Amino acid sequence: MKAEADPNMIVYFNNEYVPMREARVGILTHALHYGTGVFEGIRAYWEEDEQELFVLRAREHYERWKQNCEILRINVPLETDELCAVTAELMRRNGFRSNLYVRPIAYKSAERIGVATDDQDAFAIVALPFGEYLHADKGLHVGISSWRRIEDNAIPARGKICGAYANSALATDDARRAGFDEAILLNENGQVAEGATCNLFMARAGKLITPAVTDNVLEGLTRDSVMELATRELGVEVVERSIDRSELYVCDELFLTGTAVGLAPVTRVDHRPVREGAIGPLTRRLQELYFQATRGHLPAYRKWLLPVYRDAHAARTAETQQSVA
Ligand SMILES: Cc1ncc(COP(=O)(O)O)c(C=O)c1O
Repeated sequence: MKAEADPNMIVYFNNEYVPMREARVGILTHALHYGTGVFEGIRAYWEEDEQELFVLRAREHYERWKQNCEILRINVPLETDELCAVTAELMRRNGFRSNLYVRPIAYKSAERIGVATDDQDAFAIVALPFGEYLHADKGLHVGISSWRRIEDNAIPARGKICGAYANSALATDDARRAGFDEAILLNENGQVAEGATCNLFMARAGKLITPAVTDNVLEGLTRDSVMELATRELGVEVVERSIDRSELYVCDELFLTGTAVGLAPVTRVDHRPVREGAIGPLTRRLQELYFQATRGHLPAYRKWLLPVYRDAHAARTAETQQSVA
């Protein structure tokens, strides 16, 4: 799905809440030419029964973002708590009551020619309504890309660096034109790294296996959530190790994880069915658990959720009580 933005929607830009149509960058902006930005992708889910919007793992996303910004020496002047507060305020100002995607982006903002960086940095946060990213109800068909995943010593994949996404765009474009739903990239060692926009897990002999964080992957937060759910809730052992391409052809189950895709089952790889070509039982169970945890249905995982409306309501009530007293 492509998320189209309403130009009147409020975004956070240059330390202010402004309508999207006013949030513009110049044609010579360093990041536009050289890819010197770092972004994040965060989900928020609307829970009708509680009339609440839950931002998923907001703190961890902002901590990762600030760390990754340091790779490019981009300064984000707000603390993690302040970034969470801005995000929730953005949602309230827009009055959002649906599933959302949040896109924080920090970048080298000098407007001039020349690749050398300086300390002119800027950042913005945009939140917008967003449905399903990949339609995975019946399982996805993925293809191994002829493009290789970028190496850590070229552009670190763990950095979520704007320029690195040319690699994902090339692989996605090829995959879609060839009729696949998503590309799987191998690293320069010829082993499986990840999808163009997501991490990968396979099940073999009752264990879940995912490439190690040193295999040129983004250290996904959904990956982390799924590992916790698998171990704690299902007692399934999760192994982080390199995966051969041909293991994908003989594995028992396969799925992708990411903030945008959630947990998406894969039922075919390179025109070969994964087992019987149906969604596997472990994948289904994890999909259910992930859904419940991210919608606030599992008390043990409320720790992952930032409620947008309740806290503001409680703060307003406390203020009113104070002024009455
Ligand atoms: C290349 C890549 N790998 C993995 C992921 C999944 O990471 P996360 O679960 O933190 O969204 C993403 C999405 O952000 C991505 O772009």
